[in-house]
Amino acid sequence: MIEHDVVIVGAGLAGQSAALAAIAGGAKDVAILSKVHPVRSHSGAAQGGIAASLGNEAEDSVEMHDYDTVKGGDFLSDQDASLILTESAPEMIYALEHMGVVFSRTEDGKIAQRPFGGHSSPRACFAADRTGHAILHGLFEQVVKHDVKIYSEWYMLSIIVHDHGCHGIVVMNIDSGEIEVIKTKAVMFGTGGYGRIFQTTTNAFASTGDGAIISYRAGVPLEDTEFMQFHPTGLYRHGILASEGARGEGAYLINGEGERFMERYAAGMMELAPRDIVSRAEQTEIDEGRGGEEDGDAVYLDLRHLGRERIMERLPQIWQLSRDFQGIDMIEEPIPIQPTAHYSMGGIPTNVDGEVVYDEENTVLAGYYSAGECACVSTHGANRLGTNSLLEACVYGDRAGRSIAKYLSGGYEERPATPQVFSDAVAQATERADRVRAMDGPERLGDIRNDLKVAMTNKCGVYRDEGPLTELTDELREFRGRYARAHISDRTRRFNTEFLEAVELDHMIELAEVMVAGALARKESRGGHSRRDFPTRDDENFLKHTLANRAEDGTPDLTYKPVKIIRHEPVERTY
Ligand code: FUM
Repeated sequence: MIEHDVVIVGAGLAGQSAALAAIAGGAKDVAILSKVHPVRSHSGAAQGGIAASLGNEAEDSVEMHDYDTVKGGDFLSDQDASLILTESAPEMIYALEHMGVVFSRTEDGKIAQRPFGGHSSPRACFAADRTGHAILHGLFEQVVKHDVKIYSEWYMLSIIVHDHGCHGIVVMNIDSGEIEVIKTKAVMFGTGGYGRIFQTTTNAFASTGDGAIISYRAGVPLEDTEFMQFHPTGLYRHGILASEGARGEGAYLINGEGERFMERYAAGMMELAPRDIVSRAEQTEIDEGRGGEEDGDAVYLDLRHLGRERIMERLPQIWQLSRDFQGIDMIEEPIPIQPTAHYSMGGIPTNVDGEVVYDEENTVLAGYYSAGECACVSTHGANRLGTNSLLEACVYGDRAGRSIAKYLSGGYEERPATPQVFSDAVAQATERADRVRAMDGPERLGDIRNDLKVAMTNKCGVYRDEGPLTELTDELREFRGRYARAHISDRTRRFNTEFLEAVELDHMIELAEVMVAGALARKESRGGHSRRDFPTRDDENFLKHTLANRAEDGTPDLTYKPVKIIRHEPVERTY
């Protein structure tokens, strides 16, 4: 058995921030475990910026940032969490800069800031269009400097929860296929989102929601998973992100007829309305026959008027991506794009100190922490504003790390977990791994995965409706049946990626079930959840967070908990 005081699962911005904060707070023995090398974590794919009300390019304030965040979230944000996020932002940017993160500058040498959707002032601090990459590498240098033990290419199979306390995780060394326990005093999940359950997504192959489902299976509910964000500008058919920073720099959205259609949907903010509104506008243009490309299912991002110099200085990565994947030079031609699954607003419920909570009363599960996209502290409510995710990962990762340090130094008491608890956990994980390796039915895992993604995109995508969601509920049951009849061809242990994909698919099917249950029950439209049959927001009945618990038969059982409304009463959301 391996032992550490703290193990952090996931090496993106949340996980690395937590590790550094735990060490700064006095923790001595901190490890990070990740199924990919740390600098390949999906945080590195974030492009356009990280929000903070520095006011370097126009008047700004914490109050403005806070209000924009809550309004952007369609008033489902917990307002204690959004205020902490926005108040902490300026200090976080300076801390990152002092660590060595290089931000783009204004003419007079300040940190440059560009406009972003739903923000009322230019607030996105950026490193060209590689902001996540720059921060991820900056943090990783510090993690290496502080001798954090890294388990790179290790896969978590389960979390050990016993007697309302967390005691460690069961893991597989991907290289050897060996299963081991890591016994700890504190576990933190920064395991990212689950955009991979959709056909077209900006998300990395690793974003399969492992942490969320492992937590759910251990008895912690999942919160607000029906709120999936579709980013308005994924490269057509590929899904690869073409940063909102492009629109921040002034790019237009045009339909197949060459018209700037946002005038019809958000005349005030146009292309810089929040993502839920822009994605719905695009989908409506497509559905009503004004899309472009052969199948009429694309619209266009037009950067031509920005000129070569600005594009190459501010948006070099998306210029390259579009050239490599679409064969288009965006300096000369508009690029085809489409709404693309991007960000999971819901996840593992936490309080503002990063502690995981497991019921309607927000009771803390001792020794278990979470932050970043896999978590739901709910700063983002029903729709996250662009650039608030990197911020949230850093701010709440940092807060989780500080809480862990405090827990270890003051409140930690060895909780009774007998050797039996650990050996049972290993036995269960081993039995599951053996079962997966023995899968010998007629169904192909790849077919199930593809069919799942198509079904989720068509029936639980930008727009939703009772009929298709009900059909999808039945289809998901069939996917489970098909999974049970699937075949695996590689039965070896060492670096068996087919085995890992099979385990991930199991997680993806269950996540889809939770998401669809929440979407079916939420009979209103709010932020990223848009029901054609209930097109308006219903505060009387649905100003509440969904909590999905796993019932005995494995199906999601829904309850709700109140939203923390502190300063901003819900009003109609116009842009
Ligand atoms: O469009 C983007 O650059 C994405 C940023 C974000 O999701 O925060």
